[in-house]
Amino acid sequence: MTNRTTLVTGATGTLGVPTTAQLRAAGHDVRALSRRTGPGLVTGDLLSGEGLAAAMDGVGTVVHLATGKDDVRAARSVLDAARLAGVEHLVLISIVGIDEIPLGYYEKKRAVERLVSESGMPHTILRATQFHSFVERLFTAQRRLPVVVAPAFYLQPIDVEEVAGRLVELAGAAPAGRVADIGGPGRHSGPELAAAWAGARGIRRPIVPLRLPGKTFSGYRAGHQLVDGPAYGTVTFEKYLTSGDRLPR
Ligand SMILES: NC(=O)c1ccc[n+]([C@@H]2O[C@H](COP(=O)([O-])OP(=O)(O)OC[C@H]3O[C@@H](n4cnc5c(N)ncnc54)[C@H](OP(=O)(O)O)[C@@H]3O)[C@@H](O)[C@H]2O)c1
Repeated sequence: MTNRTTLVTGATGTLGVPTTAQLRAAGHDVRALSRRTGPGLVTGDLLSGEGLAAAMDGVGTVVHLATGKDDVRAARSVLDAARLAGVEHLVLISIVGIDEIPLGYYEKKRAVERLVSESGMPHTILRATQFHSFVERLFTAQRRLPVVVAPAFYLQPIDVEEVAGRLVELAGAAPAGRVADIGGPGRHSGPELAAAWAGARGIRRPIVPLRLPGKTFSGYRAGHQLVDGPAYGTVTFEKYLTSGDRLPR
């Protein structure tokens, strides 16, 4: 790839921050897109389209990570602006299991993948499992409950720095279409993850396994959110919990 100017959408998000930092460290000239203004940011809104043409001008690669109110419309804006600007490669993050688990958010991710793969734009699509911080947030969000409710299915969470690392590799390589899914090093049930989190954070509330009727829950029970084969990630959930990155309780 000759043009090393890389636009990151969602650059201020959980995944965007480490991706932007690692792209810069790898020698990319990074434009970090945000609706906000601030040092190091390029201002643009994927829903109104404001600022997008200028942000995209001269860009070789787009790493599309943003997520918000209307991800399908946002993806359309990214593709339209990228096409006009002559972007050579669009790298998209997506989620493992979206074809089989009928969650509303996943339906949108599928539509975005479809838009990208049918756009004619040279692209790479990477699906990852849930981030460690996302799993922790499931538990911290329950701070007002007397118990910790944990879904009775397995997850294979991955460290966001490792997802960022893979995105940097892909952004520096030729467009590859859909590449192999990535997941973290361990598969643990919801109650096991809740117990590890509670232990690390000094939480003493009882852990209650949650089972729900319906196709979404049975999709998770069937393990479609897991990645077969050797794990990509090496950072375990336990390691993440002791790494010093803390979410509010
Ligand atoms: N969370 C997980 O476990 C997980 C797992 C696999 C894949 N993913 C995927 O990874 C991606 C990143 O997730 P994340 O958790 O890092 O997201 P996040 O922390 O919620 O960040 C969302 C980002 O989107 C940007 N954004 C939202 N609406 C926008 C708009 N209208 N115009 C421009 N930017 C907009 C925000 O930027 P500003 O607020 O600065 O404008 C922010 O940087 C998502 O596509 C998600 O589906 C997530």
